[in-house]
Amino acid sequence: MTAEETELAGALGERPAFVPTMGALHEGHVSLIRHAAGLGHQVVVSIFVNPTQFAPNEDLATYPRTREDDIERAREAGADVIFIPDEQVVYPGGSRAAERGAAAIQLPEVATRPGLEDACRRHFFGGVCLVVGRLFDLVRPGPAIFGEKDYQQFMVIRSMVQEQAERFEGIEVIGCPTIREPDGLAMSSRNVRLTSDTRERALGPYRALQAAGQAETPREAEASMAEVLDAHDLEIQYAVIRDAETLEAVSDDGRPMRALIAATLDGLRLIDNAPYPG
Ligand code: PAF
Repeated sequence: MTAEETELAGALGERPAFVPTMGALHEGHVSLIRHAAGLGHQVVVSIFVNPTQFAPNEDLATYPRTREDDIERAREAGADVIFIPDEQVVYPGGSRAAERGAAAIQLPEVATRPGLEDACRRHFFGGVCLVVGRLFDLVRPGPAIFGEKDYQQFMVIRSMVQEQAERFEGIEVIGCPTIREPDGLAMSSRNVRLTSDTRERALGPYRALQAAGQAETPREAEASMAEVLDAHDLEIQYAVIRDAETLEAVSDDGRPMRALIAATLDGLRLIDNAPYPG
């Protein structure tokens, strides 16, 4: 064990509740930490901007970093341990080996088949599964709490834990609802990039989800979502109704469904989702 791992191990209780984050904490993260605190376990929050989930053309270098505020927010929300590892603690084999590991990792089907985030950000789930697996190995949590705003990510991590039951034994992946601004905008660390001009257009995904809820059929819902996103001058990556578990095409056998949206606004990616029909 490295000195940092030993220090972490010394601070950890038995099966803590764990909230992994990349920092730039907002009310959405606060709600996850509060949820964790309500479970009666020790609460561990990690802050690590994970390089392996960013493609070379993405915003790793400029991802918002607000460490001092994050520590204060996490403590106020109920964190007992705040784990801010250096890259070599998470990836002791170095960044090249980590990149290779992320590319080679065996992913659950929900990370490869739906054609949603997996199609738009091909490197993403490899990096997420690699880092979350490594953080789980270091923290050895009981409950692990994730926001449903990144719905596919939540489903992927849940599947990863189920599929590698021996490695991740004792971990329960819990999803918490998306936290929104009063006008409906889903909270996101990247919202700081919205300007007074783009803030109103960023409401498109939320309004599209509301419109989907009024539609009679999944097909009509998809058409309504596209119309609302167009009206907000957003470039649609997907706006679909899918099986809520597999995230694949819906069938008519009454299984739960989910509306899922990704769109860009002057280069800024917005994602949102909600149960369908609502
Ligand atoms: O959702 C996030 O903030 C990140 O993808 C996660 C799960 C912390 C992994 O880096």
